[in-house]
Amino acid sequence: MKVETLRWTDGKLEMIDQRILPAAFEYIAYDSASSVAGGIRNMVVRGAPAIGVAAAYGVALEALRLQDTSFLEFHSGMEQAFVVLEKSRPTAVNLFWALQRMRAIWMVVRARKNAEVAQRLLEEAHEIHAEDIRINKTMGAFGAELLPDGARVLTHCNAGALATAGWGTALGVIRSAVEAGKKISVIADETRPFLQGARLTAWEMVQENIPVTLITDNMAGFMMATGEVDAVVVGTDRVAANGDVANKIGTYMVAVLAHAHSIPFYVACPLSTIDMNVANGGEIPIEERSPDEVTGFRDCQWAAEGVQVRNPAFDVTPAELVTALITEKGVVQQPDLEKLSTLFG
Ligand code: MRU
Repeated sequence: MKVETLRWTDGKLEMIDQRILPAAFEYIAYDSASSVAGGIRNMVVRGAPAIGVAAAYGVALEALRLQDTSFLEFHSGMEQAFVVLEKSRPTAVNLFWALQRMRAIWMVVRARKNAEVAQRLLEEAHEIHAEDIRINKTMGAFGAELLPDGARVLTHCNAGALATAGWGTALGVIRSAVEAGKKISVIADETRPFLQGARLTAWEMVQENIPVTLITDNMAGFMMATGEVDAVVVGTDRVAANGDVANKIGTYMVAVLAHAHSIPFYVACPLSTIDMNVANGGEIPIEERSPDEVTGFRDCQWAAEGVQVRNPAFDVTPAELVTALITEKGVVQQPDLEKLSTLFG
């Protein structure tokens, strides 16, 4: 993948504006924690690992911005930076994972000069960025072994390079399988209401000449019933300790269908997306987004003014429906509490 979802340029964080893809390809520059939090909230950047990387850079940017202030101002400003970033989106645990990692570094170096603290935080953000790509490639290699040559793989939302620092989780598995010489084709659910499948997954696959067929979400059952799907691979925003998987709204529906048709349902998931502090999917906070995303798209509104709307952005797939989790430590068949606890040693 030649495009960089996030990049560090001239002391600023630049992120591809994913709201306007594929019609336009533009970067937006960020120079503070609150501007990065805004970019996460309004989905300039989205996808659990990419949100985590953005938040880490948000912390570093704030430290750089405040480095010439007094010790007290610097550290109270940093505390506010963490708070504003933590509030940006609730479901993807990678956000909190990355912030916790940045906080731990801050605590270790906080007695040093502000400029040194800022440099150390920036180094850590760069490391989280680079590590995410390495992890995706390792995960991709494990996942590729699960896909037979010629597999037609259905995916939901966008768990590609755009949702991560690069390569992708679910699309990383597909990329690795293709790189290993397998002939893989992708069926991309459009992913109502924000259209991550139609706009982002389809774009990523077309860029790399990986055959991709776009369907609307309500066609998945038809495709499975007619024998046109060999496997499902999706990403996730948070996996609970018992193996329940929160992912983009509609994933649960796909998992039920896959189960009904005896099609394997795989979830590509770095360890940073597993939250051992939540016992099951019922405890995962589910983001509710603006009704405008459901009543229309961009400037076009198609639903009646005044209609009541629900817009939960994620749903939970029970662990029983998950054939396997693909992690950087290997494949966990039928995940449960015992197997996930073992993963963390
Ligand atoms: O609302 P989004 O676009 O941030 O949701 C993204 C997803 O649901 C992805 O599938 C998930 O974050 C995994 S990305 C590797």
